[in-house]
Formats: sequence, structure tokens, C-alpha cells
Amino acid sequence: MRISNISVVGLGKLGLCLANVLASKGFSVIGVDTDASKINQVNRGISPIFEPGLETLLQAHRARLSATVDYNQAIHNSDATFVVVPTPSEPSGGFSLGYVEQAMGKIGEALREKPGYHLIVLTSTVMPGSMEHLAPLLEERSSKVCGRDFGLCYNPEFIALGNVVRGLLRPDFVLIGESDERAGQELAQIQSYVCENDPPIERMNFVNAEIAKISVNSFVTMKMSYANTLAEICENVVGADVDQITTAIGKDKRIGSAYLKGALGYGGPCFPRDNIAFASFAKGVGAQGDLALMTHQINERQVKRITRIFVKENLHPPMKVGVLGLTYKPGTNVTEASQALMLARQLASEGFEIFVYDPALTNDSFRTDELRFKPTAEACIEATDVCIVATPWEAFKKINSSVFSDKFVIDCWRILNDDAIRNSSRYFPLGKSFNKKIPAVLA
Ligand SMILES: NC(=O)c1ccc[n+]([C@@H]2O[C@H](COP(=O)([O-])OP(=O)(O)OC[C@H]3O[C@@H](n4cnc5c(N)ncnc54)[C@H](O)[C@@H]3O)[C@@H](O)[C@H]2O)c1
Repeated sequence: MRISNISVVGLGKLGLCLANVLASKGFSVIGVDTDASKINQVNRGISPIFEPGLETLLQAHRARLSATVDYNQAIHNSDATFVVVPTPSEPSGGFSLGYVEQAMGKIGEALREKPGYHLIVLTSTVMPGSMEHLAPLLEERSSKVCGRDFGLCYNPEFIALGNVVRGLLRPDFVLIGESDERAGQELAQIQSYVCENDPPIERMNFVNAEIAKISVNSFVTMKMSYANTLAEICENVVGADVDQITTAIGKDKRIGSAYLKGALGYGGPCFPRDNIAFASFAKGVGAQGDLALMTHQINERQVKRITRIFVKENLHPPMKVGVLGLTYKPGTNVTEASQALMLARQLASEGFEIFVYDPALTNDSFRTDELRFKPTAEACIEATDVCIVATPWEAFKKINSSVFSDKFVIDCWRILNDDAIRNSSRYFPLGKSFNKKIPAVLA
């Protein structure tokens, strides 16, 4: 392979993991970031972000990874550059290209003085049509020709926080949008070398790769909203159980069991916004993205589904509520668009006193006046009248069941498996007909 030195621009949640995975596979990696404190930490072998497996990789492969704020140094000492900078959502629903343009501009300027072919790979999620705009920008800044002096690829990732390292090493497939044959071929070689599961590599033009990227999350969230709709139906039908239904229908190959768990809604930095972007893109080209919009609307209703249980069961302030789990999923400390956090805040706004516990958060890392952190799950439950298991952290399965006695328990993910809890008339597993002795929650 021609490429042995790689630069990674943007050492955030995705970029730092990518840089470390590349270093772990033997590439010499130079990271670039505008945040000098991040650079400092990485160069001292400290991970500035929380992601399982990252710190270990960083420690093990430090010799092959360095970081700098200097684009010239990074570009001149590498043969390929991955760009993983933020693409925040805009009011229209699309993604801003601002940071990407800044980074590409600097890469272009650095390339001006660099002899030989260079491969540029954009990993950040962008709106369809963006790549066609970036090729001329790079040509203008570098005074070089795309497809001859440098190659440009779009190579988005489909990873989930908490599982980023594994997701990079073992993806279901690799998606490549390419400016030309050589660029795509070189990137495919890197990915084949890095991935441990020999994934299929789908190569295509820019726009098809761009549409494919936002389609994946839109489709996956549609399955989640479908399962949540089924769960809501089951809560209102005596004898119904969403798990039995999704386990059965997931066996149908046309449906599949992944992401078909009826529970709380989805959250995080990607799922909600990718769906809105999909609908906005469809509208922009004169098509109808109703399915994506409806998926999003269903997701927006999920917190209300829980607060209706409170109304129905006559649970009201000054009762105290414990929320177990605030992150948008287990294995991460990210709370962006977290349904658990939205639920906690909604109940706080209704006058409930809210106590929280999350294995990845403390009052110091998550400053808030409306939520009171407890040091353990047990302490959180003991302090409250109603307890909500909002994020399915494994540790919650091991909570001593005696602390739940005399509490109302809303188990959004049905992870508590102690019979004493399950048989209690105060136990509400989402997605199951609420205890026959208690009238079903009506819409
Ligand atoms: N995090 C994920 O799970 C995930 C998954 C799939 C796709 N993505 C996409 O990847 C991109 C990055 O996401 P993230 O979560 O890693 O973001 P992040 O905010 O965690 O990290 C971005 C990093 O880029 C740096 N940066 C900003 N402008 C820069 C510039 N001009 N030059 C150098 N560095 C710069 C920031 O300082 C930060 O360290 C986004 O487009 C996102 O949609 C993220």
C-alpha cells in the first residue's frame, strides 16, 4: 500500500477514535485540532473524551500518534487526510458545512507546497450535494487538480457512541463516495486493512454516498419509532407484550430484529438530526419526506407517554422522582437529545423533585440546578417515591431488589428481572399491558 502516514483533522468523539484505530493498525498518525488543550492531552497519552476502549488504545500505540494545531506539519507529513470536524444542524434541518470548509481550505493551502499525490477523505456527515462543492474549493486553495494531483472521498461512519472503536474495526459495510477510481481504490485499501471483518465496500459517486449515509439513520429510526408505537399499543391491551411481538416479527428476514425494541425514544447527536435532515433534503428536491418526519414526530411524543402514566396513576408533586440513567444510551457520557434527560427535565418543570443517578455522570461533570445527583443507584431510589429506569445500563440489573419495595417503578427497558419487583402492582414495564389490577393507561 502507498499510504503509511495518515493525518486526522478533528480529534473529537469520532476523530480521536479513528486516529487511534489507524495507529493501532500500524499507520503513523498525526492528529490536528483547533483545541490546544485537546492536543496537549493527546500528546500526554490522556484521552480528552469518554469512550470504551479508547484510553487503552491511546496508551498502547502512543508512539505512532502525535497531535498538533499545525495543518502544514500534518499534511506535509502524511499521504492521506481524514476530516472529522463538526457539521452542526442548521435551522432548516440541514447540516452546516462551515467547519468542513475551514478545514478543507487549510488542507488546500498546505497542499499547495506539497509534492506528490494526496488523498483527502471526509468522514463528517454532510448533506447531499456538499462534496461536489468541496472539490473546487480544494482546487482553488491548492492550485491543484482533483483526480490528478489529489483525490477526494466521502467515507461516513455508521458507528454509535459507546461502541465507536468496535464499530470502526467491524462495520457492517464501508461506504465510499469517490472523485475518481484512484481515490476510491486507495481508501478501499486502507479500510480493508483496518477492518477486521472483511466488510463489503460499496463504492459510488458522491451524491449516492451522501444520500445513502442519511438514509441509514432515517431507516433505523423508523424501525425504532415503529417498535415504540407497538409498545404503546401493548400498554393499552390486556395481556399484550411488545417483546413477544417484536421477537417474533424480527425473525422475518424482511424486518430483522435489530433496533426493534419497544421502549423510550431514540436520542444522541446523530439519530434525531439525521432524520430531520433527510426530510429537509427530500423537501428541497421537491420530493416528500413524510416518513422521516412522522418518525421524528413519534419520537417527540415519547416523554409524554411516560408523563401520562403519572397522571393516570395519580402521581403528583410533592412526590419525589428518581431517574436512573441520563445519558442517551449506555456506554457513553453524552446526554445530547437524551430522552431520559428530557423526561427528567419535564417532570422537574411540573414541580416534582428529581433525583438522578448515572454511572457516567456526576454533579461535577453535569452541572444542573433542577436535578439532584445521588452517588449510587440505591441512594437515588431510596430518596424517592417513584423510580424510572430510563437508560438501560447493565449495572441497573444488579440493583438489590429490596430498595424498590414500596416504590412505583417505571421500567422503560424492562431490565429489572426480580420477580418480587415484577409482580408488584406498582411496577410499570413499558410495552406491556400494565398490571391487570390497574386499568390500562389510555391515550
Ligand atoms: N460522534 C458520533 O457518534 C458520530 C457518528 C457518525 C458521524 N459523526 C459525524 O462526525 C462528525 C464529527 O462528530 P464528532 O462527534 O466527532 O464531533 P466532536 O464535536 O466530538 O469533535 C469535533 C472536533 O473537531 C475539532 N475541530 C473543529 N473545527 C476544526 C478545524 N477547523 N480544524 C481542526 N479541528 C477542528 C473540534 O475541536 C473537536 O475536537 C460530525 O459530522 C458528526 O455528524 C459522528
